[in-house]
Amino acid sequence: MFSIEESYNQAIRIVRNIVEDIRFSRQLYFEPVKAWSCQICQSITDDFELLAIIHNFKDKNPYMYSHPVNVALISYVIGKWMNMDGTKLENLLCAGLLHDIGKARIKDSILDKEADLTPDEIEKIMAHPVVGYKIISSVNLFNIQILQGILFHHERMDGSGYPLELKGEKINIYSRIIAVADSYDAITTNKVYRKKDSPLKALEEIQENSTQQLDVAICKIFIHNLINFFNGRAILLNNKQIGSIVRINPAAIAKPMVCSVLPICFFLRVRILYAYFILSEFCQNTDM
Ligand SMILES: [Fe+2]
Repeated sequence: MFSIEESYNQAIRIVRNIVEDIRFSRQLYFEPVKAWSCQICQSITDDFELLAIIHNFKDKNPYMYSHPVNVALISYVIGKWMNMDGTKLENLLCAGLLHDIGKARIKDSILDKEADLTPDEIEKIMAHPVVGYKIISSVNLFNIQILQGILFHHERMDGSGYPLELKGEKINIYSRIIAVADSYDAITTNKVYRKKDSPLKALEEIQENSTQQLDVAICKIFIHNLINFFNGRAILLNNKQIGSIVRINPAAIAKPMVCSVLPICFFLRVRILYAYFILSEFCQNTDM
């Protein structure tokens, strides 16, 4: 039996190897992706522990490698909350882990560029779902559902996405799940061109996007379960104090009710877990 930490680090190695193989035009081996997906389905039973590990590990590896792993695992948890069977969950994990693999063909100087991208650079970035689809379909190892999951992950429910501007349920279910996980991980991770936001701000942004761009049913399941996960957790406030979340109002997710605020030094001494929550100035501190 593998621990969640071991499985997480193993996935990082798998993605790094594939990215390097693509960049150095070496023989591609995708079998470890299938084996890892099967292993996750068989060994991980605690969804909330998995979410905690994702948050604790997310800044420890380059975004190029950690983002696909986070998206695969968050998508997997969403799939479980949607009662998907084991085969579909394995497909979802494969599609999640490979969804951005087309970016391996883009130079880091473009991926990490702080200044505005040129039209040519934007075109290269927007081609990554198609590039990834072509790379993955060339190896004849993954089914059409997984291939479409990769190809359509930037399509949006209102037709504003790319590459085909598909609408609604014409977009593969794996792509619609990956789109939600992709948004959440992108918002909560530091990047060269954007500072990360708190998970609660990310949920609020996803809730806003669920009316047009993201699948509203998937967003509801994701937000409902993550609110349950965050309730009672310790948080670090942006005024350097800590507290714990008492209640999150679904109509104002980023303004939770917080209690028992303590000095930061005490926080460090007791080593409370989940120190990754840095909430906005809108936090409402309530003494109880
Ligand atoms: Fe992408």
